[in-house]
Amino acid sequence: MTNKDMLLITQKIAMTRDLGVHGNLFGGNMLSWIDEAAGLMATKICRTTNMVTVKMEEVNFKRPVKMGFSISIYGKVVKMGTSSITLYMEARKHNVYSGEETLVTSTKIVFVRIDEVGDPIPITEEIRKNYLHLNE
Ligand SMILES: CC(C)(COP(=O)(O)OP(=O)(O)OC[C@H]1O[C@@H](n2cnc3c(N)ncnc32)[C@H](O)[C@@H]1OP(=O)(O)O)[C@@H](O)C(=O)NCCC(=O)NCCS
Repeated sequence: MTNKDMLLITQKIAMTRDLGVHGNLFGGNMLSWIDEAAGLMATKICRTTNMVTVKMEEVNFKRPVKMGFSISIYGKVVKMGTSSITLYMEARKHNVYSGEETLVTSTKIVFVRIDEVGDPIPITEEIRKNYLHLNE
């Protein structure tokens, strides 16, 4: 997807402590960064902090990330349910010299709005109606 289709949510730097045994960014760290960014986006869109991750779909680690690389994490709403929202997420590495971005990881994540005891409750109609066209 192009930049104009997606919202920049957060940026990270791959530090020494984030690397795995091959000198690449450890996959579990990338998953955590994407989950956190998507959670941030889901809570802002749904205007509640009571959102939980229920599913992370297939994750593609397309390119390695080395120490010192900056990572931009983008998101886009792709589906609106009753209590759930699905986001497509991309992490891209940024070349500081050329400004070029390269896709490194992508996935879809589903979040569910929950009440105070952890049961699903509907996302408000006022918010849902702005995204229902995505389901057509
Ligand atoms: C999220 C949770 C409350 C949903 O409970 P549930 O009993 O599955 O609820 P329901 O079957 O009524 O489904 C509620 C919504 O979740 C969606 N959902 C549930 N499981 C799903 C899955 N595996 N994939 C996609 N959507 C899913 C349903 O489609 C439904 O969406 P809709 O309201 O938009 O139609 C429950 O699974 C949970 O608490 N999971 C743990 C969440 C958590 O702790 N996450 C942090 C990661 S460790």
